[in-house]
Amino acid sequence: MCGIVGYSGGQSAIAPLLEGLRRLEYRGYDSAGIALGTASKLFVEKRAGKLSNLEAELKGSLPSAHSGIGHTRWATHGGPTDKNAHPHLDNEGKLAVIHNGIIENYTQLRAELEHRGHSFSSDTDTESVAHLLSELRKKHGGDLAAAMREAVTLLRGSFTLLAIHADAPQTIVGVRRNSPLVVGIGKGENFMASDVAAFIDYTKRAIELGQDEVVTITPEKVSITDLNGIAVVPKEYEITWDASAAEKGGFNHFMLKEIFEQPKAVADTLLGRLSPSNQIVLDELRLSTEEIKALKKIVLLACGTAYHAGMLAKYAIEKWAKISVEVELASEFRYRDPLIDSSTLVIAISQSGETMDTLMALRHAKAAGARILAVCNTNSSTIPRESDAVLYTHAGPEIAVASTKAFLTQVIAVYVIGLYLAQVRGIMGNDQVKELFNEMSALPSKIEQVLETVEPLRKLTRGFAQSTSVLFLGRHVGFPVALEGALKLKELAYMHAEGFAGGELKHGPIALIEPGTPVIAILPTGHDHGLDEKMLSNIQEVKARGARVIVIADEGVEVTGAEHIIRIPTTPALFQPILATVPLQVFAYEMAVTRGNDVDQPRNLAKSVTVE
Ligand code: AGP
Repeated sequence: MCGIVGYSGGQSAIAPLLEGLRRLEYRGYDSAGIALGTASKLFVEKRAGKLSNLEAELKGSLPSAHSGIGHTRWATHGGPTDKNAHPHLDNEGKLAVIHNGIIENYTQLRAELEHRGHSFSSDTDTESVAHLLSELRKKHGGDLAAAMREAVTLLRGSFTLLAIHADAPQTIVGVRRNSPLVVGIGKGENFMASDVAAFIDYTKRAIELGQDEVVTITPEKVSITDLNGIAVVPKEYEITWDASAAEKGGFNHFMLKEIFEQPKAVADTLLGRLSPSNQIVLDELRLSTEEIKALKKIVLLACGTAYHAGMLAKYAIEKWAKISVEVELASEFRYRDPLIDSSTLVIAISQSGETMDTLMALRHAKAAGARILAVCNTNSSTIPRESDAVLYTHAGPEIAVASTKAFLTQVIAVYVIGLYLAQVRGIMGNDQVKELFNEMSALPSKIEQVLETVEPLRKLTRGFAQSTSVLFLGRHVGFPVALEGALKLKELAYMHAEGFAGGELKHGPIALIEPGTPVIAILPTGHDHGLDEKMLSNIQEVKARGARVIVIADEGVEVTGAEHIIRIPTTPALFQPILATVPLQVFAYEMAVTRGNDVDQPRNLAKSVTVE
C-alpha cells in the first residue's frame, strides 16, 4: 500500500504535493519522491526513508512548477532504496510514473521492454510501466491518456497509476484497478490521490473513480473515460470528514480501518501465487526440489499474534506436506538447545521484521545450519535481511499496535508455503492444490460477509463491558484462534482473558466458570472426528455452571446452549480461522472503545518489540 498524490493548478505544486504525502504517510513510509512539471523538463527528487529525508533534499531553491506527482512508498518489489523510490522515469527522463499496488506480470513486461532497448535502473515492478507508457505515448502521437488506456490492457494485478510528461506538464493522467484513486476538484486546480486525506485541506469536492477508469486532470478540467476512450460521467460527492478522520478512511481508529482492509490484504497476499498451470509460485524460497525433498523438519519461530499464525501453519503443513512441524515461542527457543541442522527449514514470522526475540532465535537457528525463510510485512527489515529467503505479506502498513490484517495475511502466507511444499514433495497433485487455492481465493469475499455483521457485534460486545474476565474455547485450528482472541482482548481491553483447547476444560480451567462468566466458543467446522459434537458438549458443560456463551459457528450448523451465535460463512476446516478471527478482533476492539482505552496505542505496548 503506498500513498500517491497528483496536482495541477495555479499555485506552486510543491506545497500541495508534500502536504498530501504527509497526510498519506500512514499508507507507506519507507521512501518518498516527487516529479514536478516545470516549463522545460521534469524535476525529480526521491529518497529512501521517511518523507522528512525527501523534504531535507528539497530545501533551498526549487524550479517553478504548477503541477506534479508525489509518492510515499510501502515497498513490495525491490527494497526501500533511493533508486527504487518512486517516481520512475522512461529512458529519456521525460515521463514519470508513480504506482500503488502490484503489477503481477512485470517480469515478463520488463524482459520484452529490455529486448526492445529500454534500460532499467531499479528493481521495481513500477519501472516497467514507465517504459511501456513512453512507447505507447509515441504510438498515440503524444496522447498520454490514450497511452494509459492501452497500457492498462497489458497489465495484470492491482494498481493505481499516475503519469506526467515533460511535453505537457500540466496534464496528469491516472488510472485505477483494484486499488483506490480519488479526484479532488478545486477552483483553477485539481488533485488526484490514494484517498481524500491528501487534499482535504484544499477542497471537499471529490470524485470516486470506477474500475479501469482513466482520468486526466489539468488546472481547469477533469475528464474521465473507460478503456475504450468513451467518456464517463463523473460521480461527484462532498467529503464530510475532517483531516484526521480522513487519514483513518473515515473510521475512528486505524485498528477498525485495518480490520476492514483484511479482504484486500488477503487478496493481495494471494495475488500471483498460483500459475496458470496450477503450480504454487514461491520463487522467493530459493530451495531446490532436492533440498525441499530432503527437509526433515520445519520450525516456526514467532511471538504473540505471529506465534498463533505459526500454530495454524503446523496444522496445514503437516496435513498437506506430511513433514514434521514444530512451533516455537521465539523468546524460549534458543534456551532449550533445540535440535536444528541443515535438514531443518526455519520459518520466522514477523509483521515488523524487527522483533528482537524472533531475530535472536533466527540467528541461533542459522548458526546451527538451518535454512531460514522469513514471512514478513515490512520490506527489507532486519529479519528478512538476515534470512535466506522471504515471503512478503501484502497487508500494507499496519499502524494499530494490535495486529489484525497482518495476522490474516501471515496465515495465508504460511498456507501458501504448505501447499508449495506439498506440491514440490509430490504429496499433493495440481488439481488438489488448485482446489485448495481456490478456496483461499474465496476468503476475501467471505471476510466481507463477516464484516457486514460488525455493528451488531459491537452492540453485542457492549453487553459484556462489565465483565472482568473472558474465556475462549477452540478445538483443532480453533485453538490458536481462541488464543488470538484472548490476546486481542488482553492487549486492547486490559482485562483477563484466556484461550483454551476445549478438551482441556475438564483438566482444570472449568473451575474458573461461575455464573455470568463470558465464554466465547469457536465451533469446529467440517471435521470427521466429531469435534463439533465435543465442542457442543463443552458448551453445555460451561453453560451448566452459569457461563454466558457466545458461539462462533458456520452458517447452517445447529448450535445449542448459546446466548448469542455469531455466524460465519462455510469454508473448509483449515480456512475457518481466517473467518472466525474477525469477530474476535471486533469484540476486543469494541471492548477497548467501551472502556475508553487508546485503541491504536494500548498502554505498555509497542508496535515492534525491538528488545529481548
Ligand atoms: C499482536 O496484536 C501484538 N501486537 C504482538 O503480539 C505482535 O504480534 C508481536 O509482538 C510480534 O510482532 P511481529 O509480528 O512484528 O514480530
